[in-house]
Amino acid sequence: MSKEYSVSPDGEKFPLPGKDEYAKEYKRLKAKVARQRKLNREIVVVMGVGFVGVAMAAVIADTVDKKGKSNKFVIGMQRPSVRSYWKIPVLDKGISPVISEDEELAPMIERCVLEKKTLSSTFVYDVLSLADVVVVDIQCDYHKNSLGDVYDGHADMMPLEDSLAIMAEYISPDALVLIETTVAPGTTEQIAYPIMKKVFKQRGIKKDPLLAHSFERVMPGRDYVASIRDFWRVCSGINKKSRDRVVKFLNDVLNTEDYPLTVLDKPIESETAKIVENSFRATMLAFLDEWSLFAERNGVDLVKVIEAIKVRPTHSNIIFPGPGIGGYCLPKDGGLGVWAYKHIHGFEDEIFKMTPLAININDTRSLHIGQLTRDALRNMGRPIAAAEILLLGASYREDVGDTRYSGSELIVRKLTEMGAEMRVHDPYLNHWWEFEKQDTYPAPGHSLERFFRNQEKLKELKIQDDIKSALKGTDAVIFAVRHEHYMDLDPDKVIKMVGNACAVIDCFGILDDNKIRRYFELGCEVKGLGRGHIRRIKDEVRLKKLKKKS
Ligand SMILES: NC(=O)c1ccc[n+]([C@@H]2O[C@H](COP(=O)([O-])OP(=O)(O)OC[C@H]3O[C@@H](n4cnc5c(N)ncnc54)[C@H](O)[C@@H]3O)[C@@H](O)[C@H]2O)c1
Repeated sequence: MSKEYSVSPDGEKFPLPGKDEYAKEYKRLKAKVARQRKLNREIVVVMGVGFVGVAMAAVIADTVDKKGKSNKFVIGMQRPSVRSYWKIPVLDKGISPVISEDEELAPMIERCVLEKKTLSSTFVYDVLSLADVVVVDIQCDYHKNSLGDVYDGHADMMPLEDSLAIMAEYISPDALVLIETTVAPGTTEQIAYPIMKKVFKQRGIKKDPLLAHSFERVMPGRDYVASIRDFWRVCSGINKKSRDRVVKFLNDVLNTEDYPLTVLDKPIESETAKIVENSFRATMLAFLDEWSLFAERNGVDLVKVIEAIKVRPTHSNIIFPGPGIGGYCLPKDGGLGVWAYKHIHGFEDEIFKMTPLAININDTRSLHIGQLTRDALRNMGRPIAAAEILLLGASYREDVGDTRYSGSELIVRKLTEMGAEMRVHDPYLNHWWEFEKQDTYPAPGHSLERFFRNQEKLKELKIQDDIKSALKGTDAVIFAVRHEHYMDLDPDKVIKMVGNACAVIDCFGILDDNKIRRYFELGCEVKGLGRGHIRRIKDEVRLKKLKKKS
């Protein structure tokens, strides 16, 4: 039989382990763990070395006691799947499988793996039998069947349910299982507990599993590690023993002196805290979508309106919504709550109105850019069909290379559907997997491609790293993300690089009035999300030109 390989993003091929390698790997781990126990180190297994698991594993492995001695030994556990196995050999070399803008992450992983020898990784589930603590960082997705209708979807509980059953088969009854995954509220007590209890019974274990929940607030970007270690945490346990264990563990590994823990009575409360926290933010952003349209149609600059409101301390966290609200969490977390109400707790009425509506609005907000671009080009006498359009920024937020559910993806898909030829520039990215691998990423059948026509050619879409050649000859430039590289771009220089006047679309309050004015003076057409005052600037420039002529 031919060997199967898992290929890392930079193209290195790793053969998947064969059947005979499992026993060998477990033997190796047992010997390693025995040595670590002699050093009085607690053994922690982190399940799922994805975006969250990698950084959490590093933070735990870097922990020292009051005397400055390492007191944890961490093993990252990852399924040996074609998609993810590569993360294990990469991590074992002391290299982070997650590329981050945070300068702390890579040296931290290298230090823990190669110098401190407190971080390792494996593909065998048997490792769970060696753990004092198991930290669960595997995904729990929410699958949407339609664009803009979160009710038409479901929580994908399978990866989590499967791993809970596997954990219960292997772990010692005294091991603490800490679920960090963002879950549908009720999961720890009503899904995890019964699954694990049943398996414990089959193993003849009378004790209750020790289960706790504490959600992650990790953020991509320059403070990725600090957003785990130096940030406030909420936690809970299913009983007193679990609660005491999770409090001790988090006090050990996180900077709880400066960022104290909040301990809630029950897991459903900490699970709900995560969902409400993210739904609050999603709702605040979604509510501004209608005011953004109001602003565009009535000569109002929403950017200035928001700045004016922000001055008031009670309203200081109001923010401009940009072209759609992306990232892994905000588009799905409210859906987990809505789903739980019916499918875990058994209610049939639909109490949720704002939470799903906010997600639906956010999920479709960026489609409006299609209209703005079409209108700007039309005002210049150019059709959108076959127009060359450059998108500046693919990430879902500024100054990170993270494209998960970014508004930019929908902008590209919508404009492609309308016949445009898209180009993309993003200084933080080399690949945009949502397009390059749209048949299989994020999973087969789950690409947003399915909601649009005419998407096949987008597999060829490459991120350009030279802004000068990206701009050359384009019909329209879309400022989509507030990357620092785009904030100070000078209109004269941009148009020089384009070679001609073009349409300019501002999705994120990136252009100030002077720049907007200058683009008009250079013969461009400008439109902006929530920026109805642009029309006024256009009229001023036109009047000035007329006066000059007469
Ligand atoms: N990414 C964020 O910014 C963020 C922020 C806060 C909370 N969260 C939450 O953290 C959780 C994890 O998110 P993520 O971004 O790390 O996801 P991810 O998809 O990057 O990582 C999940 C990892 O778990 C692995 N996995 C799945 N099943 C497994 C199993 N049975 N055994 C071992 N490994 C398994 C996957 O292969 C993958 O590597 C999610 O619930 C997410 O909502 C994420």
